[in-house]
Amino acid sequence: MSLIKVSGLTIAYEFRQSKLIAVNAVDLDIGEREFLAVVGESGCGKSTLALSMIGLLPKAVATIVGGSIIYKGTDLVKLNAKELRKYRGTEIAMIFQEPLTSLNPVYRVGEQLAEAIVIRENRAELGEMATSASDVMQETHRVDEVNVKVSRLPRGKKRISSDLKAEAVEALKLVRIADPEQVLERYPFELSGGMRQRVMIAMALSQRPKLLVADEPTTALDVTTQAQVLKLMKELMTKVNTSIMLITHDLAVASQVADRVVVMYAAEVVEDSDVFSLFSEPMHPYTKGLLSCIPTGSKDDTKLMPIPGSVPDLVNPPVGCRYAARCPYVMDVCRTREPPLVEVKPRHKVACFLYGQ
Ligand SMILES: Nc1ncnc2c1ncn2[C@@H]1O[C@H](COP(=O)(O)OP(=O)(O)O)[C@@H](O)[C@H]1O
Ligand SMILES: [Mg+2]
Repeated sequence: MSLIKVSGLTIAYEFRQSKLIAVNAVDLDIGEREFLAVVGESGCGKSTLALSMIGLLPKAVATIVGGSIIYKGTDLVKLNAKELRKYRGTEIAMIFQEPLTSLNPVYRVGEQLAEAIVIRENRAELGEMATSASDVMQETHRVDEVNVKVSRLPRGKKRISSDLKAEAVEALKLVRIADPEQVLERYPFELSGGMRQRVMIAMALSQRPKLLVADEPTTALDVTTQAQVLKLMKELMTKVNTSIMLITHDLAVASQVADRVVVMYAAEVVEDSDVFSLFSEPMHPYTKGLLSCIPTGSKDDTKLMPIPGSVPDLVNPPVGCRYAARCPYVMDVCRTREPPLVEVKPRHKVACFLYGQ
């Protein structure tokens, strides 16, 4: 059963007096307790897709021009800002690449964690007030402004009650932070990158969301810490009964944790498959290209070696298959018609004329 179902989603940015389609007719769904990875190079529309699912697209420049995002029978695309706030955090939560942009530097970990817990319990009471850093982020993407605005938000209790503290300690234990009492007293900058990301995960999960959207959560971490955080997310998924949508440019990261992988190229889904089928039998030439970039030895370097060429301009995308210019298997038809996404094997869809579309 789908927890969330995205259909035909199309999102445009106003960009230098023209329209840039960052997400084009995207279909995807996420099941209950499913770990979905969305993979693709930078600029493919992954973050835009993620922001739309949590209602955090930058209002001034982005418009959803078509499609739906059905969550528990409700189309999130049709909701206004106030209605969306009921879903954000409690139903659908998000963590970002660099936790320093989401954690407030002037408050201790304990205060911020306690606030997340208070928000969960007092949602109705807090009503229409902006209740989290994410709400403020919608109005501005500048970190310094976010911090200033967040510090003016009504805070929970500066002196944290013992019940709240106990819950905050539990939340930190859940993300395997040793010595949680001490960590509660620290400021974000006093923690390592891996610790900060764990705190962010603890904060997101303390609101008990049904879906956790994680946008490149481990990209800023070293390889060992990255593996630990990914493993933790996977464990937590079953423990706290949530689904996860992990966004990454790194197919190797996806392979470590995902049940299913959606590959995006130039604003579109080109392949959607369960993880075993994707790795044993990758179909789209783009997916094959990404796979061949994964080092197989014991080298520490997990960076993508770029496929020759680059993602096309999304203001004026090419006619036909968007990957044609970089594809080693390109055929005439690819330059005139766009291949539809078709299920060519059970649970394995691909958009490529090599498979008889
Ligand atoms: N605020 C914005 N204004 C205009 N264009 C944007 C904005 N944010 C992203 N874009 C453009 O949308 C496309 C997709 O970006 P993004 O969703 O960030 O991709 P990804 O997360 O896969 O790197 C890119 O071409 C990017 O330049
Ligand atoms: Mg991104």
